[in-house]
Amino acid sequence: MTISFRPRAVTPVHLAVIGAGYVGLTAAACMAESGHDVTCVEASPRRLGMLLEGVMPIYEPGLEEMVAKNVALGRLRFTSDVAEAMRGTRHVLLCVGTPPRQDGTPDLTQISRAARDIAAQAASDLVLIVKSTVPPGTCEAIEILAAESASPGVSVHVASNPEFLRESRAVEDFFNPDRIVVGSDDPEIGREIAELYPAGHPVVVCDRRSSELIKYAANTFLAVKISFANEVAGLCELLGADAAPVLRGVGLDSRIGTAFLHPGPGFGGSCLPKDLSGFLATAESLGYKAPVAAAALAVNQRAPVVVVEKLEAALGPLAGRRIAVLGVAFKPGTDDTRDSPAIEVVRELAARGARVAVHDPMAAADDLPAVTMPTPLAAMAMADAVVVATGWPEYATLEPELAWDAMAGGTLVDASGILDADAWERAGFSVYGVGGGLPTSVRPVIWQPITWATNAQVPVAAG
Ligand SMILES: NC(=O)c1ccc[n+]([C@@H]2O[C@H](COP(=O)([O-])OP(=O)(O)OC[C@H]3O[C@@H](n4cnc5c(N)ncnc54)[C@H](O)[C@@H]3O)[C@@H](O)[C@H]2O)c1
Repeated sequence: MTISFRPRAVTPVHLAVIGAGYVGLTAAACMAESGHDVTCVEASPRRLGMLLEGVMPIYEPGLEEMVAKNVALGRLRFTSDVAEAMRGTRHVLLCVGTPPRQDGTPDLTQISRAARDIAAQAASDLVLIVKSTVPPGTCEAIEILAAESASPGVSVHVASNPEFLRESRAVEDFFNPDRIVVGSDDPEIGREIAELYPAGHPVVVCDRRSSELIKYAANTFLAVKISFANEVAGLCELLGADAAPVLRGVGLDSRIGTAFLHPGPGFGGSCLPKDLSGFLATAESLGYKAPVAAAALAVNQRAPVVVVEKLEAALGPLAGRRIAVLGVAFKPGTDDTRDSPAIEVVRELAARGARVAVHDPMAAADDLPAVTMPTPLAAMAMADAVVVATGWPEYATLEPELAWDAMAGGTLVDASGILDADAWERAGFSVYGVGGGLPTSVRPVIWQPITWATNAQVPVAAG
């Protein structure tokens, strides 16, 4: 896939990028495309080997072509050698992982190790730009570590420059960011970092702790939106209202926005759950209560279970039942399964004794208590029910009649909300969504508003 854009001119510099994951590889390729000379350092021999052979270790639309083009132009190279990357380089983008630990706090081992290595190799003053997502205060701590490792006379300035790219749209997001955030205690260096990027986008320059918190707070807010959508969806189900128009009607308010306001199996991926936990851990470490963020986490932990409970309510006990789960990736358009709610759905089904077959167009479903099938129809063969857990567009174009013929039962739970429920119902399926409306005939009667409106007594149930 080719993504068209025209990067605005930058003043080319030598850049080192540390880490060739979603963030580092995208930054390396896009910085090279913008005109910089980029050396990308990757520590994993398997990942580096793939890159040196021209094979992409991750899938991102448009990235493969951009890497190939810039390698061919000599503006982008890959190595495991930090010293090689540091030659003639003042700016280093730190893009290593900050995975969550068991208790939800971020593991900063990769970042502190990389900062020490880089500082030890620096022959002249260095600007270490932290693109990884880190808790407020990390840049200051890293600066102390780097100063301990640097040669006498070499100063290492550590700045925050959080990354906001969305997987599956990473290249597009790099060139059309909503904003570029730079945190530095030196305004000159802040400006220097902002100028590495193509111009024409809002730039927020602030102190380091504020910059680090912008990233945590932004992802926490997105998580809150999704959990709120699921909360509204639950209320819709009790009321017999339909969450789709409700949330659209809410989101079209320009103060609110429709993005991230969709019910489903919850949020996942490598960022939202981790950053929400990091936000909460930061608050807790300061003795500060963050009940809104805490509630978003609690609602999300229940979201995949709610999907399975829906299926159980429709089908009865799940032990021994054959269930097809379509989608394993945490969202469509990516092969990333980190913290995927679809995987939680599979695990929850298996824990209740169901026999699960899964399909995903791109993501591998290794280590799951399920068999992987090459096509959606193969996963659905002889299944009692199907759950659409990831909203891949190809599932929206499945033919319900073919699915009906292939399956043993006719229950569909569309947790992703992408299927045409009417078409599946016409084919014979019983369709359940998250927050889906019920036919008027089976809507539960709501007594309380009737009493509020009429001053009538709440009827006492007989018996
Ligand atoms: N994935 C996203 O969508 C996204 C978006 C915004 C921010 N972030 C943040 O950016 C950071 C990186 O995320 P990611 O998804 O790219 O992680 P990732 O785990 O996919 O990639 C990190 C890479 O860094 C490499 N690495 C670790 N230590 C190294 C070292 N010392 N030298 C060279 N390479 C080293 C690892 O081998 C790995 O390939 C995280 O803090 C994440 O929270 C991620």
